[in-house]
Amino acid sequence: MNHFNIAIDGPSGAGKSTIAKALSSKLGISYLDTGALYRAVGLKAYRDGWEENDEIVSRLLGLVDIKVSYDEEGKQHVYLDGEDVSTAIRQDFVSGYGSRFSALPSVRKALLDLQRRVASEYSSVLDGRDIGTSVLPNAKYKIYLTASPEIRAKRRYDELIAKGQTVEFDKVLADINERDFRDMNRAISPLKKADDAVEINSDNMSIEEVIKFVVEMINENV
Ligand code: DC
Repeated sequence: MNHFNIAIDGPSGAGKSTIAKALSSKLGISYLDTGALYRAVGLKAYRDGWEENDEIVSRLLGLVDIKVSYDEEGKQHVYLDGEDVSTAIRQDFVSGYGSRFSALPSVRKALLDLQRRVASEYSSVLDGRDIGTSVLPNAKYKIYLTASPEIRAKRRYDELIAKGQTVEFDKVLADINERDFRDMNRAISPLKKADDAVEINSDNMSIEEVIKFVVEMINENV
């Protein structure tokens, strides 16, 4: 198959990264988790106590170095000023920082090139919020993966409980609703379905069913 990209957008907890990873290994293409880049900015903002001010952040971002590389197993690593922050960015509080700072035009602009470079160099699947609408409007395949907030919160809650953490379902649901609202209502590149994206609601579908559906869609369209 020639060079092509797959854009997967949708709210947090819809299963984007699981589907994207599975597609990347089934189709032998690269995977870029773009949320990790926004999380790296969020982590830097938290550590250095940045204000949510576009002009100031724009200047500060000029001094920050964010890079992505892949290990022998194909796992993505994100580097913040040379430090591998791939684990640090998964902390729960970083989600909120990533979401808040991702609304700033300077942050979106700073991360755009990196995303487009990966996508133009390699056939890739990218997951995020604005891949189909803004980063790769010409992606060959576009998927909008969603699920109800309650189902997404339940999946996240089960995940945290399985890790031995003490959490309340209502708090997990409130966090998801808050993040959805911010990601969908920001002025620049808000989360929304691209007109030409195929929408999949995974409320009543297993991960395997979603993967099968997407692989069939891609194979029919080669
Ligand atoms: O997918 P995630 O939860 O790791 O993303 C963290 C935050 O980054 C998310 O709340 C919104 C932002 N984000 C974005 O604005 N655009 C993207 N393409 C990916 C993530």
